[in-house]
Amino acid sequence: MRLVVDQGKCCGHARCNDRAPDVFALDDLGYAVAGEIEVPEGKEDAALAGARACPERAVTVV
Ligand code: F3S
Repeated sequence: MRLVVDQGKCCGHARCNDRAPDVFALDDLGYAVAGEIEVPEGKEDAALAGARACPERAVTVV
């Protein structure tokens, strides 16, 4: 599974990281690190929960 974080949409809610800290890294300002993420095996459910938790819809499953 791959995800893409759109930096233009991320407002730093950090809900993605709360649901899946092993998947979504935050930068020093609390924004999700943008770009493609290869989800580690076994973390798919948490990754999806993190993507769905984003109120800005900044995370897309590809
Ligand atoms: Fe950003 Fe959404 Fe996560 S706003 S920090 S991608 S919950």
